[in-house]
Amino acid sequence: MPVENVTASPKPTNHVTHLECALCNKKFNAGEIHNLCDCGGPLLVRYDLASIRKTWTRDQLATAPTSMWRYSPVLPVTDATSIISLGEGMTPLLPIARAGVRLGSSKLLLKDEGLNPTGSFKARGLSCAVSMCHQLGVKKIAIPSAGNAASALAAYAAAAGIEAHVFMPRDVPQSNFIECKAYGARVTLVDGLISDCAKIVAARKDAEGWFDISTLKEPYRIEGKKTMGYELVEQLGWRVPDAIFYPTGGGVGLIGMWKAFDEMEELGWIGSKRPKMIAVQAEGCAPMVRAFERNEKRSEFWQNATTVAAGLRVPKPLGDFLILDAVRESGGVAIAVSDTELIDAGIRLAEDEGIFVAPEGAACLPALERLVKSGLLKADDEVVIYNTGSGLKYLDAYATRFPRSAAGEQDKLGGLITPR
Ligand SMILES: Cc1ncc(COP(=O)(O)O)c(C=O)c1O
Ligand SMILES: [Zn+2]
Repeated sequence: MPVENVTASPKPTNHVTHLECALCNKKFNAGEIHNLCDCGGPLLVRYDLASIRKTWTRDQLATAPTSMWRYSPVLPVTDATSIISLGEGMTPLLPIARAGVRLGSSKLLLKDEGLNPTGSFKARGLSCAVSMCHQLGVKKIAIPSAGNAASALAAYAAAAGIEAHVFMPRDVPQSNFIECKAYGARVTLVDGLISDCAKIVAARKDAEGWFDISTLKEPYRIEGKKTMGYELVEQLGWRVPDAIFYPTGGGVGLIGMWKAFDEMEELGWIGSKRPKMIAVQAEGCAPMVRAFERNEKRSEFWQNATTVAAGLRVPKPLGDFLILDAVRESGGVAIAVSDTELIDAGIRLAEDEGIFVAPEGAACLPALERLVKSGLLKADDEVVIYNTGSGLKYLDAYATRFPRSAAGEQDKLGGLITPR
């Protein structure tokens, strides 16, 4: 069901001016269904920020809804009754001092996106994109996904009463498969990666009447994800940190935050300072790190991608050029860590801080340690790590470190009240 009270204040007003291709700058009308530009570039939503600035101030957020829809004047939904919200956003920004001491970083914060509906930041993008689908009358949506985006689509489509068709790698985490089934999505497991799933959706969508909601192949998921940037700055008292570590698969969260910072500057909410954007990848799938190190503008397809951080298994991000631009402009880097390092780091963080992060988020910790040692970051820089999902979604990955003995299995079957 659409939720109406989430937009109590401020109300969305139609400040979207147009959509613009990120590659060739061609303009498209807003308020229509769109996928990519004819040139293959992703479309970005543009707003009349000069007008918004006159009527929307930071102070008004004091009474705004406690979800990402508090930023609705810079979100594309114009019909408030179309907003499909499950309470996404306004996730905690937590100091993690003990982990900071261990990693050599004295002002370390963690933005815990694992507390979103469906346990990952993907809820933000899909809340926004499914709301737009609802507003534009879309009846069937298809998604190729590494896992968490499929879970989020399945949930928001269920809430919107829209049919969801999900394509995921066969070895997707069990949580994603079960969630999608429970939310009533039509699930296809594919022998391959997200890129193979994307090919199937592209080939079948016209005949099936599906809207292809692949990340960046439509303009609205990134708008939801950009609220991670607005929210962070609001939580920090209207300043940006010195560095942001973001686990990068398709990189849309990173691109979205970068867009948010520019918008906030135009709104007069922040100055020209930007955080160093650190794109963190897994060694088994690191196309952005390779392109960054070779000083290339675009990435090359990463063959035989493997990592337990399933969300990072994106062999060729569509928005690679936007990720690289943001990382370079910000003075950041792209950096890869091994699966062993990231699982170790996830367990250490759980022990140190009581926060159980997704392997993707955990990857940021060894990356931070390395960049402090290398001197790119100072020990007293204010650093924010994005934990993009809950560790509870990755029990299969963490279970390799906590094998259960045969006796343990018997206990599980018999339970505590069974006499032995
Ligand atoms: C937990 C998690 N972290 C990070 C990512 C990568 O997201 P992005 O496309 O924004 O790079 C994903 C994508 O599936 C994910 O599920
Ligand atoms: Zn174009």
